[in-house]
Amino acid sequence: MTREEMEMLFNKASEAARAAYAPYSKFRVGAALLAADGRVFTGCNVENRSFGLGICAERGAVMKAVSEGARAFTAIAISTPDSPTPVGPCGACRQVLSEFMSSDARVFFGGSSSERVDTTIAILYPYDSLHELASAL
Ligand code: THU
Repeated sequence: MTREEMEMLFNKASEAARAAYAPYSKFRVGAALLAADGRVFTGCNVENRSFGLGICAERGAVMKAVSEGARAFTAIAISTPDSPTPVGPCGACRQVLSEFMSSDARVFFGGSSSERVDTTIAILYPYDSLHELASAL
């Protein structure tokens, strides 16, 4: 994917962040997950007054996508409009993303400035030996 295509996916993530339910942290996050079949699934963070029950935008997008029959994803863009600098996915989201994305899948994230991080699952979640085991099943 070109840098322009990643920016287009990022724009969808920014659009998704507008739906974020984040009254407690006031930190909105949007994600746009590109499926191998070309579909794009978005997600936003949804918090709860029982704080530990909130879910991140990335995992929301994965649950939505898998529920709709998509299981392979080539890229994800993550937008954090309340931060000027890019904020990467949390550890739990890295684990969940790695279940359905290969190590060379693109992860692209940024905040409200033009700064972007353009990286891969392998970089964000290294030494994941169980990944190969899972894909052989
Ligand atoms: N959050 C995400 O949705 N994705 C991330 O990658 C980082 C954190 C959410 C969780 C919580 O609703 C808010 O951002 C503040 O941590």
